[in-house]
Amino acid sequence: MYCVKKMTEDLYWVGASERRLNLFENAYPLTNGVSYNSYLLLDEKTVLIDTVDKSVSGLFFENVDHVLSGRKLDYLIVQHMEPDHAATIGELVLRHPEVTIVCNAKTRTMMQNFFTFDIDSRLQLVKEMDTLTTGKHTFAFVMAPMVHWPEVMVSYDTTTKTLYSADAFGTFGALNGNLYADEVNFRTEWLADARRYYTNIVGKYGTQVQALLKKAAGLEIEMICPLHGPVWRKDIAWFLDKYIHWATYTPEDDAVVIAYASVYGGTENAANVLAAKLSDLGVRNVQMYDVSVTHPSYILSECFRASHLVFISTTYNAGMFVTMENLVHDIVHHNLQNRTIALMENGSWAPTAAGLMRAEFQKLKNCTILDETVTIKSTLKEAQLADVETMAQAIFDSMPKPAPAEHTADAPIEKNAFFSFSYGLFVLTARDGEKDNGCIINTAAQLTDTPKRISIAVNKANYTHDMIRKTGVFNLSMLSTDAPFGLFRHYGFQSGRDVDKFADVKGMARATNGVYYLPYSTNAFVSGRVTQEIDLGTHTLFIADVTEARVLSDAPSMTYSFYFANVKPKPSALKKQTGWVCKICGYVYEGETLPADFICPLCKHGAEDFEKLPE
Ligand code: FEO
Repeated sequence: MYCVKKMTEDLYWVGASERRLNLFENAYPLTNGVSYNSYLLLDEKTVLIDTVDKSVSGLFFENVDHVLSGRKLDYLIVQHMEPDHAATIGELVLRHPEVTIVCNAKTRTMMQNFFTFDIDSRLQLVKEMDTLTTGKHTFAFVMAPMVHWPEVMVSYDTTTKTLYSADAFGTFGALNGNLYADEVNFRTEWLADARRYYTNIVGKYGTQVQALLKKAAGLEIEMICPLHGPVWRKDIAWFLDKYIHWATYTPEDDAVVIAYASVYGGTENAANVLAAKLSDLGVRNVQMYDVSVTHPSYILSECFRASHLVFISTTYNAGMFVTMENLVHDIVHHNLQNRTIALMENGSWAPTAAGLMRAEFQKLKNCTILDETVTIKSTLKEAQLADVETMAQAIFDSMPKPAPAEHTADAPIEKNAFFSFSYGLFVLTARDGEKDNGCIINTAAQLTDTPKRISIAVNKANYTHDMIRKTGVFNLSMLSTDAPFGLFRHYGFQSGRDVDKFADVKGMARATNGVYYLPYSTNAFVSGRVTQEIDLGTHTLFIADVTEARVLSDAPSMTYSFYFANVKPKPSALKKQTGWVCKICGYVYEGETLPADFICPLCKHGAEDFEKLPE
């Protein structure tokens, strides 16, 4: 029986998952299975984007047949020739001999390596930024060599702003009915597998991934469709930020990972003592791995996450212990950079492991190998505890720490301190006659329970402010964490005096008071009728009785800090920007000269709160 997912009016996921495979690429353990994604577009022409592994070919062809429903297959776009996506091309061509294969010249060579069917007669070769129009949709092709093989390209649907990203943005893990990353607990249940997939499969090629990310930074992306794992349509900036960390070999966490190799327990004991000493110093969330128990793919992934790495190995055959040697070589081959490394060795008669590990890690770029190496003989002795403490102290000292606050007579008002308020973010809407308007605010609170009474603070520069002063009626829609940045841009970065913010907005609803509320990307709304106004200078504080309140979803509320951490695009480390950044909210004004009377469209602070971006 076919098992497909309809994604849009003309796009289908026709891939498949498997949970029986023990080792991906015969190398990496699969704890949660893996998916092989393939996408089928029913435009004026039909377009299949990549195929699947042969292990799931039966279901895949049922899926393709079902979605095509008798239509012929016009195009197959081949983005990547690794057999987990390309093994079924031969059978696809037998079933659909009329198909035109769209790929680049390197792919053609690889296809000739894998297959013997007549390739050239059905080939349409493309190169960087060539396009293919299939009806309503136009694909632009972007080369992505070494992400993960040299022939890889990604495809950008300029009509829907969908990026078909090949292996990039993929993850281990079978799809369990939910196709989208926002339908699963990605941060808690998928991120470790996504990191392990990235670091082990393409971690070595950070420069090439950075090149792809730079190209992607120039695209407006609404959806990312990778070849493995969930599809991204929300929180894309958050996942992109993870990729920037991984591709630039920047640690995600200031944290310590200890990997040890022990035969009879003496080395393991020393590792435990070091971990306890680190904890005594205040280091939290130390992670320890026995390299003979945990597969190196998991430890490599942890080494990409953490800033500080400790390797502790017994000496074996005059070298590193075999499983440690495997891990160390794996780390070096994956090009890890920018880490602080500490070493400890054991050797009952001729310890050599630390020197050998040091020689390997010296091949890594921008890594500091601490001088405080500890050598033990068979077991750690009381007399050597001081050496372990010295090593722990050296690790602790090399970790960044927040500067202690100075309390002086001219105590500063640090603006970042205000970001710690548990502000929510809201769309505030009002209606004056036939004119609707809405804006983003962050200051709203319930004041009393009986009667239900709330307050909102609204900047006087906002058109919505004037409408509420005139009508005394408003709705407050409470944004949830799935609200995309575009929503903030729409309601927050333009004025209702200049544009009709509701002209092209679909799906709005009116509450009993006749004012619009936002039924999506929100978890509740309340309607207010103003009973009191307080002039706060730049803002008016409206106090209002609640006339209606409705729950819209169970999604968590969007807080100010969540917005800054996960929604607002960061001034990219990869995309050089020139201009001025608002020190309050991070809004970037692009231009050499900031007008003296400029008001931040997001937080309404003036030019004095902007600073020039570094050149
Ligand atoms: Fe998922 Fe590089 O293939």
